Amino acid sequence: NPLVTSSVVDDSPLPSNLTQDDLKKLAAYKAVEYVKSGMVVGLGTGSTAKHAVARISELLRQGKLRDIIGIPTSTTTHEQAVSLGIPLSDLDSHPVVDLSIDGADEVDPALNLVKGRGGSLLREKMVEGASKKFVVIVDESKLVKHIGGSGLAVPVEVVPFCCDFTRGKLEELFREAGCKAKLRVKSGGEAAAVTDNGNYVVDLYLERDMGDLEAASEKILRLPGVVEHGMFLGIATTLIVAGKSGVTVKDR
Ligand code: 5RP
Repeated sequence: NPLVTSSVVDDSPLPSNLTQDDLKKLAAYKAVEYVKSGMVVGLGTGSTAKHAVARISELLRQGKLRDIIGIPTSTTTHEQAVSLGIPLSDLDSHPVVDLSIDGADEVDPALNLVKGRGGSLLREKMVEGASKKFVVIVDESKLVKHIGGSGLAVPVEVVPFCCDFTRGKLEELFREAGCKAKLRVKSGGEAAAVTDNGNYVVDLYLERDMGDLEAASEKILRLPGVVEHGMFLGIATTLIVAGKSGVTVKDR
């Protein structure tokens, strides 16, 4: 891909019995090599990012990293970081973040992402969008040709007020791509899932990809009930993928 300027493959053979979680951990540990003492670091959310948060805390405890300030992207990550003793702050006090590390649900060859299946897309986009470097960490199952077209959800955070109205408007926007828009509910129940910001999430399920991603993004953001969507376009600067054949690093 012309946007990807370099690609480094660490092709040391990996044992064949690695689990998906082992691969997530490998990608996370590789990303933490970018963290240097004194940095303000955006701490991502999810089962991959949690390995990076744990590794940062381990290096702090060992004295191999010093003076790190973490900016968590969710209440869950905030709790994890507090429990591990990582000093924390926020964008109000630290509006420029040196480096963020986070997982993703889908990554295309130009490093566009879908995020937010874990529900934290708004804070993630705020923190990662304010970062000089944003390192995305995934196992190879997250790689797609086109984001939003894999039949899995593109999440959109919406205000609770008349959320079914907004859901309908979102579905209409992408009718030609066979869109079904569903309000996300809490697991095992019927009540709407509530984000850290007190909002709801509408998941867009598309039969075909949305075409021009920037145009799709603008259309979604123009709807008054929408707060933010989970497409991260042009925000990631580095991708670390762990797969059975090794760990790959790509810079944009
Ligand atoms: C949460 C996210 C996560 O980064 C994304 O869902 C990936 O999660 P996981 O590493 O658990 O697969 O965007 O809002």
